Amino acid sequence: MNSRWQIFPDRDSAASACAQFVTATLLQALQEQPQATFAISGGSSPKPLFHDLADLPIPWDRVHLFWVDERSVPPQDADSNFRLADELLIQPGRLPLANVHRIMGELPPEEAAKRYIEDITKHFQLQPGELPEFTLVHQGIGPDGHTASLFPGDPLINDRTRIAAATWVEKMETHRITLLPGVLLKARHTVFLADGAEKSELIDNILNGDYAPHQYPSQLFAREGRDVHWFLDEAAGASVASKEVT
Ligand code: 6PG
Repeated sequence: MNSRWQIFPDRDSAASACAQFVTATLLQALQEQPQATFAISGGSSPKPLFHDLADLPIPWDRVHLFWVDERSVPPQDADSNFRLADELLIQPGRLPLANVHRIMGELPPEEAAKRYIEDITKHFQLQPGELPEFTLVHQGIGPDGHTASLFPGDPLINDRTRIAAATWVEKMETHRITLLPGVLLKARHTVFLADGAEKSELIDNILNGDYAPHQYPSQLFAREGRDVHWFLDEAAGASVASKEVT
């Protein structure tokens, strides 16, 4: 298992520790290479993370920001993952817009996925069939164990060859665009940030339960990721903590 987890008193301290780790990881990478690449997720748990990152000493002129996934909505939509990051990180952190690689959720899903693949292919200068190696990826975990826009039962959970795809999420009756497992598993470093008691048993199962990634997509990354760090508040980490050998 490549996952290490840390539990913090509350949501904000978990996010703050995650932000410090993100900063240190990007700075370390930039000592060895001219640029770094960072892919972020959406939802509600990243809000304090993005807020903290906007004030930390990250040389954003050398970091390219991508998304793990995006809802099939325009960028100004309340559900847009871009809008969330734009308001909490991109604008306050004064990130250079040339380094922001938005998924164009306003386009038809398949076209949005195609454009995103083209953008990634160009940025990483990929050969046909080659997958990008992100410096760092941030993922969250939904109450059903989904991560990115890989929901339980989605055949895309098996896809280790393509970069991204559009997918229909039945339970939400919406399309999404998501990076695929081959890319997420290739990331040099991954952070999972999660909070809330409703995820406690789930996270324990993700980290320690029987391996069933089609049922719990987050398990794929928790178990097979290269270097995975979990930042949990006490509520979300309660079940895991109760079983740790003291
Ligand atoms: C999204 C995210 C998604 C998120 C989880 C957790 O677009 O919604 O990328 O995978 O990480 O749903 O969401 P919360 O942080 O809101 O619990």
